[in-house]
Amino acid sequence: MAQAPVIQVTGLRTQFGPQVVHDNLDFSVERGEVMGVVGGSGTGKSVLMRTIIGLNRPAAGKIRVLGQDLENLPMEQAMAVQRRWGVLFQDGALFSSLTVAQNIAVPLKEHTDVPPRLRRELAQVKVAMVGLPPEAADKYPSELSGGMRKRAGLARALALDPEILFLDEPTAGLDPIGANKFDELILQLQRALGLSVVLVTHDLDTLHAICDRVSALIDKRVKVGTIDELMREPDPWLREYFGGPRGRAALAAKAGPAAKAGPAGRDDSPQDSERIA
Ligand SMILES: Nc1ncnc2c1ncn2[C@@H]1O[C@H](COP(=O)(O)OP(=O)(O)OP(=O)(O)O)[C@@H](O)[C@H]1O
Ligand SMILES: [Mg+2]
Repeated sequence: MAQAPVIQVTGLRTQFGPQVVHDNLDFSVERGEVMGVVGGSGTGKSVLMRTIIGLNRPAAGKIRVLGQDLENLPMEQAMAVQRRWGVLFQDGALFSSLTVAQNIAVPLKEHTDVPPRLRRELAQVKVAMVGLPPEAADKYPSELSGGMRKRAGLARALALDPEILFLDEPTAGLDPIGANKFDELILQLQRALGLSVVLVTHDLDTLHAICDRVSALIDKRVKVGTIDELMREPDPWLREYFGGPRGRAALAAKAGPAAKAGPAGRDDSPQDSERIA
């Protein structure tokens, strides 16, 4: 029998006052899958993520995560489910007054009885897992580069050994090489830990490199498929997104020799200019 999806959203309606963001939207993620989420700015990618993890209440629809309907769970059981995912928010949001190790320890403190010494050791393991040098553990976020901050955020998202990882534009603002390395890291971790990943991104290289399927938010609904399938859709936004110069360059980079070793197909082609900004 097929496994149940780790995330199943059906008939979701999300609304802020009169503004409807999602209308009758269906979305699901299978276990072990990397699901990309794309869509124009303001189409509700971050809101979808926040709604799935219970930070935003849906106006209608059903959301099941890891087989549980969080809305109807008692607090304690809801927290038990929350422990099974990790989140890297769009704005990074490390606590600036805490060191990297202390940041990573926050979810451990909130959700477990792990004593401080062990928290520190676990934080150090996560620092290593995301490819940061050991001394980064004692630095404050302001003492790190943008790429290192992203890794630190990822380390915090991994603090509780999650089954699902939610990443909202993790490579935005990184230079092409940094973004490339971050993609590789996500893919390595996903494979090593068997994670299911929801990855919001504008980055076409990332989509090609690491996503199994992609959900495109368009006109309050979602279109889901592999990149190949979405590229064949007649929808104008999808055609422009995948078929425009940046989309074609990303496809060529994936097909080119540089891409053969994995998600390493980036160069300084025009599609990368945005990520540097
Ligand atoms: N807490 C909130 N209160 C009111 N409106 C909100 C709230 N959060 C989001 N919105 C609105 O919902 C819409 C979708 O926002 P969201 O942040 O999900 O966009 P996005 O697709 O993530 O865009 P971007 O690519 O720029 O990050 C926007 O119009 C936004 O203004
Ligand atoms: Mg967003």
